[in-house]
Amino acid sequence: MNMHVSNLNTTQNLDEHNVVVEQNSSDIEKTTHQITLNFSDGVTKKFNVSPNKSILDEALKDGMPLLYQCRSGSCSSCICTLNEGDINTMNGASSTLLRSEYDLGHRLLCVSQAEADCSIDLAYGSEVGTTSAQEVNVFIDSIEHIATNTVRLTVELAEGSYMEFRPGQFMQINVPGVGTLRSYSPSSTNKSLPKMEFLIRLIPGGIMSTYLKKQAEVDQILTLTGPYGAFFLREEHKRASHIFIAGGTGLAPILSIIDTVRQSSGVKPKMLLSFGCATPEALFCLDDIQLREQWLPSLEARICVDHGAKEGHYSGNPVSPLQENDVTDPNTVAYLCGPQPMIDGATARLIELGVKAENIFAEQFVASN
Ligand code: FES
Repeated sequence: MNMHVSNLNTTQNLDEHNVVVEQNSSDIEKTTHQITLNFSDGVTKKFNVSPNKSILDEALKDGMPLLYQCRSGSCSSCICTLNEGDINTMNGASSTLLRSEYDLGHRLLCVSQAEADCSIDLAYGSEVGTTSAQEVNVFIDSIEHIATNTVRLTVELAEGSYMEFRPGQFMQINVPGVGTLRSYSPSSTNKSLPKMEFLIRLIPGGIMSTYLKKQAEVDQILTLTGPYGAFFLREEHKRASHIFIAGGTGLAPILSIIDTVRQSSGVKPKMLLSFGCATPEALFCLDDIQLREQWLPSLEARICVDHGAKEGHYSGNPVSPLQENDVTDPNTVAYLCGPQPMIDGATARLIELGVKAENIFAEQFVASN
């Protein structure tokens, strides 16, 4: 599957780096603590939490508009930054945060408890978490093989179903007959609804891949839940230069973001898209990218392949074409989507070129069978 670890800025799913913080519950003073949430749009909201309770659970009981998905410390959707106070991981719980991120103040609210009154920063606006995930039925419209290992799946919402999402967010599709969920980001935008497009990487023996290759047919019904995730277009940065780095089907949420910028009113920002696959045969959506370059004169695309670069391609991963003069705007915002090594490399390179860490948003795509 493609997916999905979005972080405030970066999201990981690194089991080997689990941070488990042990604590002795008998040491905890049995008082209620006040939590202040500082949203990126300047809105603050307060609520109280009981000791030894998940901050996320308590917040949701009070109707706080927080993003979340797994509620078990593995997806990073609920990531925040501790500004003031003391928050620890709950006894016995684990989170996918790296120790270095934990030390920087990042916390996952679903597996965290407050040890004092706390002030928490969130990298999204107060209106973002008000959209809750819902389950809808969709009909398959088309299944196109667009590269050696990629399928474009187009679906249409069943009559009476309603869905809205932020460009970059993802949905979970229930694989028919298996009952397994797989997560994919639409490459389309809200404007295309009731139709939605997904770019799906085919994995040998993969559950969704096998379904798409052997059973999927036009007009079949799929059940889809969403939207999820904290990786989405940040409207507050819309005037800044944009850099998009996409590896493989990580292109899907990036196309949705680019198209949303294109469809919005006003002057378009300077945009650079670097997209790459392993080989020229694995590349896809090149015509779509070229079209967007024509529609958006402020967009420049660079196409990369790891092996066998042809004329017009860059050799190497999508980080390799980044150059010194690509970052001239100090407020440049970057969206990264692809495998973790690409995200790590792109983050380091962008910071080296002068992009602020807090302006880098990333989502890791994980292949799953
Ligand atoms: S880590 Fe998934 S909701 Fe908290």
